[in-house]
Amino acid sequence: MKKDLLKLLDLSSQDILTILDTADQLKAMKKAGIQHPFLAGKTLAMIFEKSSTRTRVSFETGMYQLGGNAIYLSDKDSQIGRNEPVEDTARVLSRFCDGIMIRTFAQEEVETLAKYASIPVINGLTDFCHPCQVLADLMTIREHKGKLAGLKLCYIGDGNNMANSLIVGGLKCGMTVSIACPDAYRPDPAVLDFAQQYPGMLQCTPDILAAAKDADVLYTDVWASMGQEGESSQRKLVFEGYQINDAVMAAAHPGAMVQHCLPAHRGEEITAAVFESHADEIFDEAENRLHAQKAVLYLLMK
Ligand code: CP
Ligand code: NVA
Repeated sequence: MKKDLLKLLDLSSQDILTILDTADQLKAMKKAGIQHPFLAGKTLAMIFEKSSTRTRVSFETGMYQLGGNAIYLSDKDSQIGRNEPVEDTARVLSRFCDGIMIRTFAQEEVETLAKYASIPVINGLTDFCHPCQVLADLMTIREHKGKLAGLKLCYIGDGNNMANSLIVGGLKCGMTVSIACPDAYRPDPAVLDFAQQYPGMLQCTPDILAAAKDADVLYTDVWASMGQEGESSQRKLVFEGYQINDAVMAAAHPGAMVQHCLPAHRGEEITAAVFESHADEIFDEAENRLHAQKAVLYLLMK
């Protein structure tokens, strides 16, 4: 049976740990200069219906380092933007390629693509979730803190794709998760339902300092995600104060680390001072997109 990475809800805790362990091994090989062409001769099709810097470059570079090849398809210059059905795109790409990565709006589009494709499909971000980012985040937190289970992860901001994936990934790895968000911007109901399997492990509150209290990891993301550009001025009013700043750092555990999926808006969801004093952790996190995704590519496409 073919395997996909559509959302972290589909993975077991052990699946996640296997990906993280494989990512650590691939990172060590890369740092030691050991060649690892495990996907020689294989091609990944990458469909982008939204912008990207990290996801595009890390997948393309990752395929190259694994000995394979990647093809960038934007909606603007492929037939996807002219409404070719995703069911047909899935079956065509399955005849040419060995895997598909897709970044789009609706999670349903990714699920349909996977249903019709005979090759693995990887979710490179939807409005619902961002599983590849959170695998890199978990890898980075484990590198810096030496463990995941027992840590408290606090996310401040919109209950968006990042919040959804952080809740699922964090809980599956034994972390307690707190989300500080306005009441009207809570995470997806399906994710809140899932969290009921972990009694007492998820807190969701509009109270930023209560959420940040004793946190080992503080995380934030933009107030307006891709596709919400038209709401950006209204969101600036709603999310005012949902920011990682000195007061939030002081509420957290001493030595708390800061993560941001990037791109960052200094002065909105994070202050410039906090960002720069935690830049090493944040750019380790960005680097780990490469290693975590190479692990996913290897495990799904080898
Ligand atoms: N964090 C992230 O997915 O970045 P890009 O939008 O640049 O791919
Ligand atoms: N929530 C953001 C994440 C970007 C990586 C967005 O969807 O635009």
